[in-house]
Amino acid sequence: MEKRDKVYEGKAKIVYLTDDEGLVIQYFKDDATAFNAQKKGTIVNKGAVNNKVSTTLFTHLAGHGIPNHFVKQLSDREMLCKKLSIIPIEVIMRNIVAGSLSKRTGLAEGYVLKRPVIEFYLKDDALGDPMINESHIDVLELARKETLDEVRGCAHKINDILKDFFNSRDIILVDFKLEFGFHHGKVLLGDEISPDTCRLWDKSTKEKMDKDRFRRDLGNVTNAYEEVLKRVQG
Ligand code: TMP
Ligand code: ASP
Repeated sequence: MEKRDKVYEGKAKIVYLTDDEGLVIQYFKDDATAFNAQKKGTIVNKGAVNNKVSTTLFTHLAGHGIPNHFVKQLSDREMLCKKLSIIPIEVIMRNIVAGSLSKRTGLAEGYVLKRPVIEFYLKDDALGDPMINESHIDVLELARKETLDEVRGCAHKINDILKDFFNSRDIILVDFKLEFGFHHGKVLLGDEISPDTCRLWDKSTKEKMDKDRFRRDLGNVTNAYEEVLKRVQG
């Protein structure tokens, strides 16, 4: 597999084309941002950890019938993926109140939701990724109704699978973000699933093991990410 031109550089990853037009390479960086990049920093070894955590989770999801873009891990920080035409919607699934849901509703962080909550955000850095609803998605033609139905169903299934997976590793899956895209006309899960994109709490101590340690200056960020990797890899 030959690495070709860089096509995209985001806050945490770089995407490169390859000599196969259906495949790209995701390179995971140590750079970290929060609050729409107003806060910037580095989390030592984050790229390698997120690559490995994502590899394990994508493989587990594929084994449970969730089609995704993962092909194989190429190196410490590189993952070979199917090339997606990304749907510009960030899908957030929540099991426990935290972060912006706590701010929006006044419910205390840690409140256990009776059923999972699903939210949609417009993937647009310049606008600060505003929350949108299904009517906006329809009128802005961000996704067709059948596509959104598929994405919603898939997000709920992923939540069920990952909640069980993390629970068996003594981790509570509080909430997480997903992105989807099209590959040869099929909807696939894309991006990454890692401590950058999930809230993960230790089952017994409720200690935060995710990017909130960076967002809120709680310290021991690298240790927390590495502990997640250790538990995820069993
Ligand atoms: P929030 O409570 O800040 O809305 O975040 C919900 C979840 O989504 C949390 O697990 C972190 C994740 N997330 C991202 O992956 N990228 C983002 O840009 C934001 C704002 C949140
Ligand atoms: N990654 C996002 C940013 O920099 C936000 C976050 O994860 O908190 O804006």
